[in-house]
Amino acid sequence: WSASTASAVQPRIKSFQIYRWDPDRAGDKPRMQTYEIDLNTCGPMVLDALIKIKNKMDSTLTFRRSCREGICGSCAMNINGGNTLACLNKIDTNTSKVSKIYPLPHMYVVKDLDMSNFYAQYKSIEPYLKKKDESRQGQQQYLQSVEDRQKLVDVSECECECESECESVRE
Ligand code: FES
Repeated sequence: WSASTASAVQPRIKSFQIYRWDPDRAGDKPRMQTYEIDLNTCGPMVLDALIKIKNKMDSTLTFRRSCREGICGSCAMNINGGNTLACLNKIDTNTSKVSKIYPLPHMYVVKDLDMSNFYAQYKSIEPYLKKKDESRQGQQQYLQSVEDRQKLVDVSECECECESECESVRE
């Protein structure tokens, strides 16, 4: 590796337009903000680009992420018109196209791409199994029948918080 090698690499500048809005800031209105990133110095996924923007360019950009491997659903958002997970969505490397990133439709926006109000919504619906009979609580196992387990097949496929767009829920 040498300085001449580095200078031979052409930058691949990609534009991202990202939804910005802070409802708690008086007078702030939803808008799109453009960021430009050299794809040579960024990981391959849209979440890599968001993290790079937040860490190196604009720390006020707000979004959620956790597992970075498509399990938790924290990074669910609308990317180039499709509802998807930013950690599993590859950056479109066509630098002549702008990538557009919005919150999921129909979701309450806390700030920018953060829709974490769903925690309060989850709490209100108590989305967990409840026993009809709690008399054996702490004394004996509650065994599950094969038939009862079968009832959970579809709903147990979904562990994440992008439920408004979830394939498992819609089917
Ligand atoms: S960070 Fe967990 S699904 Fe993307």
